[in-house]
Amino acid sequence: MHTSSLVSLALLATSAVAAPARQHPLMHEKSPYRKDYKDPYDHKIDAVGDGLQPLPIGNGDDRGTDMMGPRNPARERQNPDLVRPPTTDHGTMKNMRWSFADSHIRIEENGWTRQTTVRELPTSRDLAGVNMRLDEGVIRELHWHKEAEWAYVLEGSVRITALDPDGGSFIDDLEKGDLWYFPSGHPHSLQGLAPHGTEFLLVFDSGSFSEDSTFILSDWLAHTPKSVLSENFRLPPEVFNALPEKEKYIFQGSIPGPIKEETPKNFKKSKLNFTHKMLAQEPVNATGGRVRITDSTNFPISKTVAAGHLDIDPGAMREMHWHPNADEWSFFIRGRARVTIFAAEGNARTFDYMAGDVGIVPRNMGHFIENLSDDEPLEVLEIFRADKFQDFSLFQWMGETPQRLVRDHLFQQDPELGEKFWKAVEGAKSDVIKSPQSGEEEFSDEL
Ligand SMILES: *[C@@H]1O[C@H](CO)[C@@H](O)[C@H](O)[C@H]1NC(C)=O
Ligand SMILES: *[C@@H]1O[C@H](CO)[C@@H](O)[C@H](O)[C@H]1NC(C)=O
Ligand SMILES: *[C@@H]1O[C@H](CO)[C@@H](O)[C@H](O)[C@H]1NC(C)=O
Repeated sequence: MHTSSLVSLALLATSAVAAPARQHPLMHEKSPYRKDYKDPYDHKIDAVGDGLQPLPIGNGDDRGTDMMGPRNPARERQNPDLVRPPTTDHGTMKNMRWSFADSHIRIEENGWTRQTTVRELPTSRDLAGVNMRLDEGVIRELHWHKEAEWAYVLEGSVRITALDPDGGSFIDDLEKGDLWYFPSGHPHSLQGLAPHGTEFLLVFDSGSFSEDSTFILSDWLAHTPKSVLSENFRLPPEVFNALPEKEKYIFQGSIPGPIKEETPKNFKKSKLNFTHKMLAQEPVNATGGRVRITDSTNFPISKTVAAGHLDIDPGAMREMHWHPNADEWSFFIRGRARVTIFAAEGNARTFDYMAGDVGIVPRNMGHFIENLSDDEPLEVLEIFRADKFQDFSLFQWMGETPQRLVRDHLFQQDPELGEKFWKAVEGAKSDVIKSPQSGEEEFSDEL
């Protein structure tokens, strides 16, 4: 609407009061979302942390204007780089972000579960994720499924049981930062332990997995003639009148004692180890954080899922890289992040992530992860449907390529800068998370 029509509307109003001078949002002094702001280097902006309201206003050029229609300011703050993409973004790309906050929750007795699968996030093709909470003593009942299950304990403690194909049995208690892995079809159960039960992330090695369609003990028995149960267990059929009429799924159980006391008498210990202490692993120290990698090399049973756990320090960045062997399925545990995904043919799009978000980076697409937050470190799991964790570092690639070749590609126009670049990458050592630069030059705030 033009100002002139606003004026005539105001004149029509019966009790015409002088309208307060409207501060033009594009001119708000502190905000980088205004027409006279220019950042030629597209630095990250933490809209959530700094309480900024992103607007689709070009960075130092004439593009864009404010918003008039219906909007969701909270979501826009969470996605500043979708509202005003860096000037380097280009082309279209499938959606690569989903928040568990947008997933339907299945509420059960003293527990709940929600999932992010190919149905919620169509790019989640290789893996599906489930976030589950079980209070103390609450059981995710004995079940199995065709997908392998990998899990990371987010909080609390949990007891798992499993059986291997040789009849070997496995019981273990896990805490925050521990993993388990159940190969396809292996029967298992989970139970929250004292004092507050547990919450964990489950990852299945197929994007189309559904937590609602697993093979559940009580469901099977409820759908088997009692005469057959009688034959199978060599008991009179009346015994089975006591069985639940349908699946229990998640339910309050009795509080378990120590493993020693719970173990059946003729317990045959499995030769397999279904669990691993990922956070307890000695990290690889990068200049800007710590990395722990767990795959079939150090967790042999985990043949279809490999993972990296990253702690990204203040201002630090997971360096530019790509994964040659699988799509990345990341889960953000803490903090906020900016990620630009480079998809070849000039296409690149930037997504922002925060705790509880799932991110996808298709195999081979170049990307980085920047810490956006001013008050929280960034903690991320990078998960792959693969037996080994593999990545290629851009930095290392440049440093291990003949100098002449690198310079001819990037700095033919300015040999002096080429020399500077070469010095920076020469003899590159792997540094997966880079610490912030000291004395980073300030960028111009003026046109
Ligand atoms: C499985 O391996 C882990 C090492 O990650 C070890 O701490 C644990 O005791 C093992 N569990 C069993 C039951 O063998
Ligand atoms: C990494 O840093 C921690 C803390 O400074 C140290 O205890 C650990 O030994 C280092 N690990 C390696 C592999 O150098
Ligand atoms: C994250 O990065 C910002 C710089 O963008 C830095 O100021 C902040 O301290 C970092 N947050 C933490 C505590 O990791």
